[in-house]
Amino acid sequence: MSSSVSVANEGGVAIVTIDNPPVNALSFHVREPLMQALVALRDDASVAAIVIACAGRTFVAGADITEFGKPMQQPELRAIVAVLEAIARPTVAAIHGTALGGGLELALGCHFRVADQGARLGLPEVKLGILPGGGGTVRLPRLVGAAKALKMIVSGTPIGADEAYGAGLVDAVFEGDLTTHAVNFAREMARKGGPFPPVRDRDDVLKETDLAAFDAEAADLARKARGLEAPIACARAVRNAVTLPFDEALAEERALFVKLVASDQSRAQRHLFFAEREAAKLPGKDVVKRRIARVGVIGAGTMGGGIAMAFANGGFPVTLLETSQEALRRGLATIEKNYTVSVARGSLSEDAKRQRLAQFKGTIDHADLADCDLIVEAAFEDMAVKKEIFGKLDAVARPGAILATNTSYLDIDEIAASTSRPQDVLGLHFFSPANVMKLLEIVRAEKTAPDALATVIDLARRIGKVAVVVGVCHGFVGNRMLAVRGSESEALLLEGATPSQIDKAFTDFGWPMGPFQMGDLAGLDIGWRNRKARGLTAVIADTLCEQGRFGQKTGRGFYLYENGSRTPVPDPEVEALIRDKAAEKGIVPRTIDADEIIERTLYPLVNEGAKILEEGIAARASDIDVVWVNGYGFPIGKGGPMFWAGLEGAARIVGRLRYWHERTGKDVFKPAPLLERMAKTDSWEA
Ligand code: CAA
Repeated sequence: MSSSVSVANEGGVAIVTIDNPPVNALSFHVREPLMQALVALRDDASVAAIVIACAGRTFVAGADITEFGKPMQQPELRAIVAVLEAIARPTVAAIHGTALGGGLELALGCHFRVADQGARLGLPEVKLGILPGGGGTVRLPRLVGAAKALKMIVSGTPIGADEAYGAGLVDAVFEGDLTTHAVNFAREMARKGGPFPPVRDRDDVLKETDLAAFDAEAADLARKARGLEAPIACARAVRNAVTLPFDEALAEERALFVKLVASDQSRAQRHLFFAEREAAKLPGKDVVKRRIARVGVIGAGTMGGGIAMAFANGGFPVTLLETSQEALRRGLATIEKNYTVSVARGSLSEDAKRQRLAQFKGTIDHADLADCDLIVEAAFEDMAVKKEIFGKLDAVARPGAILATNTSYLDIDEIAASTSRPQDVLGLHFFSPANVMKLLEIVRAEKTAPDALATVIDLARRIGKVAVVVGVCHGFVGNRMLAVRGSESEALLLEGATPSQIDKAFTDFGWPMGPFQMGDLAGLDIGWRNRKARGLTAVIADTLCEQGRFGQKTGRGFYLYENGSRTPVPDPEVEALIRDKAAEKGIVPRTIDADEIIERTLYPLVNEGAKILEEGIAARASDIDVVWVNGYGFPIGKGGPMFWAGLEGAARIVGRLRYWHERTGKDVFKPAPLLERMAKTDSWEA
């Protein structure tokens, strides 16, 4: 037997163990011996029952994603499940860690599933732009009902062992040695005797489906899919499970899977899966990480409070520093309010809220930061303020403590130089709200020590962030590219487009919202303050701010928000203001179509990304994609700006940039040499 699959006999119960680190994915070198083992056991009358278990940290976490897009080597999972399902003696999946995708589908081929208390079960294929292709859409509804299966398959979110037990997906939950429990369970089932109906024949639960309610739910999900094909296909496949005979529904599932797996959207989403994991890797040798037990946060405003919550949520005690007792009280009160809202929404228990709040210690004395291993500064975006704070930190922080700034733009080398320990200084650029947003730009300054960097990369993962290491430049990766998109969006307004027309072009492209809706949501005053500090202007946005129109928080910005509503309503006053400003500049408005909006805003975005790569500010094109998808809402089905450039055609982008460069003379349109090379080689590799 191969080392990936072994079979043992425990008093008449066969234990088939899959061992394919790190996550027991169903690679070809697992499928082949697994099939052989199951065929042999099917024909072995001396075996009373079969347990399928996994070695290592988890049950099977799914198909091997690296095999997608290549010709599938036989046997496929479907064939393995068919053999498994036809075995007349009881079969039991022993699930620990995660049973995901093809892993859960394998388990659904068993008569029974038993799980470790900490196990999680799910069909996350939708997140890779596909649907469960190994019978998951037709078998899961037979156990948990169509409505629950729809929710699980369309969201892709796994459920815990207890919930799975309540839903009928697992038959027993155990603590302790799972394999022993599973063997005893299997033996007991064999003793009781059959028949043991396979999942495919269990359609009692399905008969209870309220099809009208199902269709209403599916229609709602389709509306929210924002152009993604996979969630819609998932819903269709689950419906087929209810309305079609098993084999027909299975064949339909296959047809949908084959179509999706070949789609650009799925390619894009698979690209992002690996890109996120790659982004957290540092080239070079492994270093010993520093120990982080307590975190200090300077500033209890929106950003500082959110950062403090992110660490507390990750289990770290936090010392929160403010300049006055009053500011500290306000900051802590906001944190408590945020947790109370989570309790009211049902996403946090009262107990967990109490535990999180107990993690916070407030202070107004820098000396209280002396026992912190990491200190994150989230004060005013002002170099003089930051330098003063870092000078104080230098005096009080313990040797080896990591000193981080949450600046969005400022030069971290300059901040580091205000301390005697620049090797311990780096940037941790969180995105607002910091306790919710996944992205964390980790800014490596010129003198940042490799072990300090490795420590925060690891820490980011522990607090559930998607980390990307970037270099020092104004705005780092995300905000530097955003500035280019923003200035062109404003230029389009002056030339004749309206905010709602531009925003619609963005939402049609797949963004959750356009640049003006986003500005109104974030607060227009933030960009205004930043521009003023740098002597820059944006004539429309500046004028709106001068009129006190800061966006949603003042009820007026690029749009109107009546009576506290969050729905943007176009405002004729703003449109008149735009025309006036254009007239002052002698610009005659013209009709601007959606294609031009995308070309003028997203092609320069890609171009700026290429410059960032050339300069080594980002290590890989895929890192830029991770930033844009997780921090700015770039549509996942397009894989991020750099991946999308390949779909759109880099040669086309270069051609159109040249056209706009000739017409406007603006630098943002001048094609970067790396983009020109990409147009020839179809690769971002230097
Ligand atoms: N195929 C290939 N490689 C995989 C993989 C998979 N399904 N799942 C994880 N890996 C790799 C990761 O790329 C990573 O590799 P590196 O160390 O080289 O970067 C390694 O395994 C460890 O993964 P994580 O860093 O993500 O480890 P984790 O402990 O944080 O998370 C996990 C483990 C929850 C299983 C997570 O990896 C995960 O969610 N994996 C994907 C699960 C999934 O989507 N399964 C469905 C696959 S599609 C399918 O099954 C189709 C079908 O119907 C047949």
